[in-house]
Amino acid sequence: MYLILLATHSLIRWFVLTSLLFAIYRGYRGWLLKKQFSRFDNSVRHITATIAHVQLIVGLWLYFISPIVAYFLYNFKDAVHERQIRFFGMEHVTMMLTGIVLITIGSVKAKRKTTDLEKFKTMAIWFSIALLVILSSIPWSFSPLVSRPLFRSF
Ligand code: HEM
Repeated sequence: MYLILLATHSLIRWFVLTSLLFAIYRGYRGWLLKKQFSRFDNSVRHITATIAHVQLIVGLWLYFISPIVAYFLYNFKDAVHERQIRFFGMEHVTMMLTGIVLITIGSVKAKRKTTDLEKFKTMAIWFSIALLVILSSIPWSFSPLVSRPLFRSF
């Protein structure tokens, strides 16, 4: 179960990033070109937030069964000084929760705005900040400190 969840979580990362990038593109495009906030744009906003929430659920589940996190929690005093263990036990979770909260707030705020311009602007800004937070806390394969594969087989 652990390896299936890990591979699923790794794969959903690409859906999170792709949907966020597309929503941000639609946000700036609509904002700068003064477009109408269409039903399609609303679906993009909604689907992006939903994918982030699915990743949150898988991530939380993973957190409770991960041997790395278990080691971190049961050996906190020593583990907090080990870079890789601390990353998954604390840093990754905190940053990703922040990113997902930003997406959620941005999505809800955009939905409640009354003009199309404000909807686009809100979506563009909140999702852009969330993207930066998320990008900074993914254990990329090229990261010198915490490296994980770009794709993991099931
Ligand atoms: C947008 C949100 C997130 C993204 C893009 C993301 C991405 C990733 C990636 C790429 C990995 C490495 C997977 C691998 O080794 O192949 C990972 C590991 C992990 N993630 Fe996330 N994550 C997100 C949110 C979360 C959240 C919210 C939690 C927990 C509440 C979480 C918990 C974990 C844990 C525990 C691991 C490592 C498990 C282990 O190696 O034993 N993630 N994440």
